Amino acid sequence: MVKTFPSINDIAKEIAHMLMGVTIDSGEKPVHIVLSGGNTPVLIFKYLAENYKDKLADKRFHFWWGDERCVSPWDDESNYKQAFELWLQPIGISHENIHRIRGENECQEETVRYAEEILNWVDKADGWPRFDLILLGLGDDGHTASIFPDQISTLLTSDKVCQLVVHPVSGQKRVTLTGKVLNNARKVVFICTGENKANIVREVIKNSNPLLPASYIKPTHGDLIWLLDDKAARLI
Ligand code: 6PG
Repeated sequence: MVKTFPSINDIAKEIAHMLMGVTIDSGEKPVHIVLSGGNTPVLIFKYLAENYKDKLADKRFHFWWGDERCVSPWDDESNYKQAFELWLQPIGISHENIHRIRGENECQEETVRYAEEILNWVDKADGWPRFDLILLGLGDDGHTASIFPDQISTLLTSDKVCQLVVHPVSGQKRVTLTGKVLNNARKVVFICTGENKANIVREVIKNSNPLLPASYIKPTHGDLIWLLDDKAARLI
């Protein structure tokens, strides 16, 4: 499903409603939400903190990350730092509900630790942890989370919950959820905005370009939703 919006604030409203919707059927059970990093979520986190503070400060929400850079949690590169400072801290989400990838740890060891934490918290379905909602971005090269084009086969077919990867350009080490976990979610939501994403959005949505990792994110038992602003949707 593709939904287009005039502005990123309208996308943020849609995400807020999705999050509230996910809790409707959960009763008192935890709701496991995976956040993405990069620039796109910045304005979304800010808007949610300013406009949905009380409605989303729900103790059932547990927050995870689809990927993280192997840096300190206080490094400006940290996806956790961005979400915590812009959204989670301002709305008072408690630390027990925040499951960050500990980028300060030895990366390979952290992939094991983070996978164990996921398996301890997130119910399995079809043999894999099933997150309730996963937010993803789309890189200009078609990567998502930190599944890059040069690592498609290993990361989309991996039998691990998460893996260590190296950014193909910067060489930065990262921890990423693998394709089978992403595709096991109840709901996967891509968020893309801006004219600079129009081409890659077309390559993934219209052409399902097999060279692009995002083309392979198709939840086996869940919903795939694209939230685009009009500029990013221009070519589809
Ligand atoms: C990261 C993200 C990454 C991001 C895309 C899009 O750690 O950088 O998880 O997958 O979502 O690169 O980034 P932008 O939103 O900055 O375009």
